[in-house]
Amino acid sequence: MNRRPDARAVKVAAGERVEIAMTVNGTDVTVSVPPRVHLADVLREQLGLTGTHLGCEHGVCGMCTVLVDGEAARACLLFAVQCEGAEIVTVEGLGSAEEQHPLQQAFSAHHGLQCGFCTPGMLMSSYDLLADGPEGTAISPDELPVEMSGVLCRCTGYRGILAAVADVAAQHPDGLPGPRNCGRRTLVGRGGGQPAAREGAITEAPPPAPAEVRLPTGAPSATVEVRSELGVPAEKVWEVLDDFHRLAACLPGAELVEVLDGDRYRGRATVALGPVKLAFDGLAHVVERVPAEHRMRVLAHGADTGGSATQADIRLAVEPAAGGAVLRADAALFLSGRIAQFGRALAGDVSRRLFEQFAAAVEENARTGRAPTTPARPPGAVALLVQTVAARVRAALRRRR
Ligand code: FES
Ligand code: FES
Repeated sequence: MNRRPDARAVKVAAGERVEIAMTVNGTDVTVSVPPRVHLADVLREQLGLTGTHLGCEHGVCGMCTVLVDGEAARACLLFAVQCEGAEIVTVEGLGSAEEQHPLQQAFSAHHGLQCGFCTPGMLMSSYDLLADGPEGTAISPDELPVEMSGVLCRCTGYRGILAAVADVAAQHPDGLPGPRNCGRRTLVGRGGGQPAAREGAITEAPPPAPAEVRLPTGAPSATVEVRSELGVPAEKVWEVLDDFHRLAACLPGAELVEVLDGDRYRGRATVALGPVKLAFDGLAHVVERVPAEHRMRVLAHGADTGGSATQADIRLAVEPAAGGAVLRADAALFLSGRIAQFGRALAGDVSRRLFEQFAAAVEENARTGRAPTTPARPPGAVALLVQTVAARVRAALRRRR
């Protein structure tokens, strides 16, 4: 991609965001992104265009191929900030279910896909190859293996793919029809749609702290059940849970920012895991509070500037026990973006550690009768990992005995 003549030099800190205007599948879009975010993540995470797949994320596999100003480009190798003013076409713009592009029809007719993971890259790459009119469509079938070698098919289903591309080249000797699904529409990011901020544009705002917490459908990324024995009476523990200021002060790395109506709370939380440090802005909503039974249910949503998002359905309950109380925490966690890369097992382990730290802080708070003067600290990255690995080693040793 050539540097645009009107490109502006902007100096921003890594954590700051830059506003970029571009056209995606015919729709004017303004997104606000940190400078280190690549185009594929913006398309997938902020605009909901998950047809652009990510394989290697360093320019080898071609899965992420899109058109940038009419030319094929690896979306994983382009920073989104380089795309200011660009016209982007993704596989969603090529055709729709109702009106498929000839390439899509040919891939279907020739069984040009097995798992389908490479298909968006193959489609966009072959479009770029054949779109140059007679010059492109004059490519002979013998040349196709080399011409199409920029996209890898891990299922090795190349025969059907090459037959499809050869068929389309033969059927359109005077040039390939353009994309069939480009036009103004609302692009909806995975965290929910944003209203248009100016005429003709769809704006993706900085990570939203939504007005209400909506949990995704489907299975959660991880579930956690923690039982903590506390050396204070159940009544005292419930007093902490029932006062959201005291409760928030016990959450590792969390800070209560604003109390809203309807038992809703805005807050911030930081989590560090290895080199990944996430700062979430979010909303917590107490949707159920039963003092007589010492239990409550909280829905929470948090998003960070890098596109990570987490939603949680948390149930807290206190029961009397010999010597004090048992604090029960059951949570279903839904993770997306970078944080989802931790995987189900690690996310569960880390969340369990966080709940254990929370329980210890609640016990101290209940014992002293007041919130700590400093909020509970976020879990240290190394300590958290060491604790998690140590717990797994202990569990493995127990199983072997
Ligand atoms: S994901 Fe972009 S080239 Fe592999
Ligand atoms: S069809 Fe599976 S990667 Fe190509």
